[in-house]
Amino acid sequence: MSPLAPEAVNLAEHVASRLGQPCDSVELVADRRGSRVYRLRFPTGDVALKLAARNTDDQGVRDAEHLGRREAAVLGCLHDFAPGYLLDSGDLDSGGSWLALRWLAGITPYRLFTPARHGDDSPVRRGSILHAAIDIADRLAALHALGWLHADLQPAHILLGPTAVDLIDFALA
Ligand SMILES: Nc1ncnc2c1ncn2[C@@H]1O[C@H](COP(=O)(O)OP(=O)(O)OP(=O)(O)O)[C@@H](O)[C@H]1O
Ligand SMILES: [Mg+2]
Repeated sequence: MSPLAPEAVNLAEHVASRLGQPCDSVELVADRRGSRVYRLRFPTGDVALKLAARNTDDQGVRDAEHLGRREAAVLGCLHDFAPGYLLDSGDLDSGGSWLALRWLAGITPYRLFTPARHGDDSPVRRGSILHAAIDIADRLAALHALGWLHADLQPAHILLGPTAVDLIDFALA
């Protein structure tokens, strides 16, 4: 396993001191197109640390740094829609940007709907899918009622929890 980037370790310490709690572990969970997401584990709730690399080339990473700052600005406008979601944000010494977000433990619709893709069309399964679809539509309607569009809707950006539907990745909203 490759070692953690020093900037991720430094930011985990920064977030730990902001929260006044020890960070128990740091784990890389996504690494795509100039953007990395780490899961930081804390005693009272985990944190998603999203790092956007500095613009370095024309291979699709050109916008990552800008998108990181943009997402922080959007979430700053959406604190009533997602209270307590944005914990902190800033710039990296290397020129990129970062966001600390509350970790959301829900599952994606893609995962929830897996049994249906494998042929389960029982009334119970149909009911759970219908309810999830309604909850997702309600959550989007609440965002639209505030005058915002997510603009990057895809299964990976919807997390269904036991009591709430959460949207993530507001970089293009
Ligand atoms: N707050 C969060 N809680 C839980 N998981 C998260 C959170 N934020 C991000 N993730 C995880 O990290 C992944 C990537 O996050 P996100 O979509 O925000 O980054 P991205 O760089 O924009 O990725 P992509 O370009 O593929 O959309 C998500 O699909 C999800 O698995
Ligand atoms: Mg995304």
